Amino acid sequence: MLPELLHQLVQQTVSGSESLLAPWAWAPALVLLIVLLVYGIFLRKLDYSRSLEDVGYITFDGLSRRDTANRIRRARKEGRVPPVYPNGWYLVMEGDQLKPGEAKSVQMIGKTLAVFRTESGEAHILDAYCPHFGANMGAGGRVVGDCIECPFHGWQFRGSDGRCARIPVLAEGGKIPEMARVTSHIVKEVNGGLYLWFDAEGREPTWDLPVIEEIETGEWSFKGRTRHFVNCHIEEINQNGADVGHLTTVHDPSFFGGTDLRYIFRWWSSFLWQKFSATWKPCTEPGSRHQAVMVLHEKTYLFGKNVKFVEMTVRANQLGPAVVYLEFDSLFGKGVFLHCVTPVEPLLLRVHHSIYMQRWVPNIVATVYLNGEAFQFERDIMIWNNKEFKDKPVLAKSTEDSLMVQHRRWYSQFYSENSPTIESLRDSKDW
Ligand code: FES
Ligand SMILES: [Fe+2]
Repeated sequence: MLPELLHQLVQQTVSGSESLLAPWAWAPALVLLIVLLVYGIFLRKLDYSRSLEDVGYITFDGLSRRDTANRIRRARKEGRVPPVYPNGWYLVMEGDQLKPGEAKSVQMIGKTLAVFRTESGEAHILDAYCPHFGANMGAGGRVVGDCIECPFHGWQFRGSDGRCARIPVLAEGGKIPEMARVTSHIVKEVNGGLYLWFDAEGREPTWDLPVIEEIETGEWSFKGRTRHFVNCHIEEINQNGADVGHLTTVHDPSFFGGTDLRYIFRWWSSFLWQKFSATWKPCTEPGSRHQAVMVLHEKTYLFGKNVKFVEMTVRANQLGPAVVYLEFDSLFGKGVFLHCVTPVEPLLLRVHHSIYMQRWVPNIVATVYLNGEAFQFERDIMIWNNKEFKDKPVLAKSTEDSLMVQHRRWYSQFYSENSPTIESLRDSKDW
């Protein structure tokens, strides 16, 4: 309709028709423009995914991006890396991605899981492969009461304990075999996310993810999400919170510098500049040792002048090995980024960022913030995707490096005797 209208307007202009000035001629285009603006400013929520090869790799030898990513993954020395699945809470998916009566298959911590929600709203997670003949219950399984029914021969497994509750063809007098069961995982649904507890020793949760009241009460609403895949050890991402030293080299140049680290310091981006300063501290009180706090202060400089009104302080609360709440209070409203890292397999991580802000804040503000966060994160990805883990780094006498060492010490609490390592997974053929 719009092209026709434009065509008509051009025709009228050429022919000098006076009806061009009539309001009816412009009204539809104006209405459309207003609708698009309202949608863009208030309703549109950022939502995108980047696959592994999309970010952080420089192609060479005429290879495609995907082949480059694979070549670097293979060529990189893994070094002596810590265990690959630390103990803690991991995001499985956002709660709104699983409707009542729905079942899905999810890959994480080296497993394939069947995630399902009963009609009454309770979420359950079971190991996906059916003990009968191995069908994936998350791929085509049906939710029946508090069970998931295997799509192959219809055996039903309870979400609460993973035991088989029904076998359709069981002969009269036959008993459900004791071995007809799968592992059931501990799930928690909080702040709009579905989280799984992983502990290599099989212990119950030793700490909890705090509820963000503003999200639970609806005072803050969901305003967008991004998802990235990263190829590195999970500890490297969390360590970024204590890595005050990389802020200047990786994050100070503004978005005009792009995400490719080869070009971020070029002259065309130098008129706009950010300056980050940060502190990092592990919590030491009993019951909170799984937490550490980074406080990040951001200033923006335009042609060397500090633009005061966009200054922002972010308080990043690291909760265990894989979840961070980044709370902020800006000129345009309060909110939080939820940063969640989930290992899919050793050295392959899925990273979710979602943003919640005060309900009244136009979505476009959250879109700008989340884009900024994702943008800076993609610079980090370029480092992570190409680096190797150094178990014995060469250190300089500096506050920056001493924080990195403190972070390693703090993070080591999430490994335990039976935490899976690359070697143990290879030996057991689980990887
Ligand atoms: S494979 Fe699941 S019921 Fe047969
Ligand atoms: Fe960073």
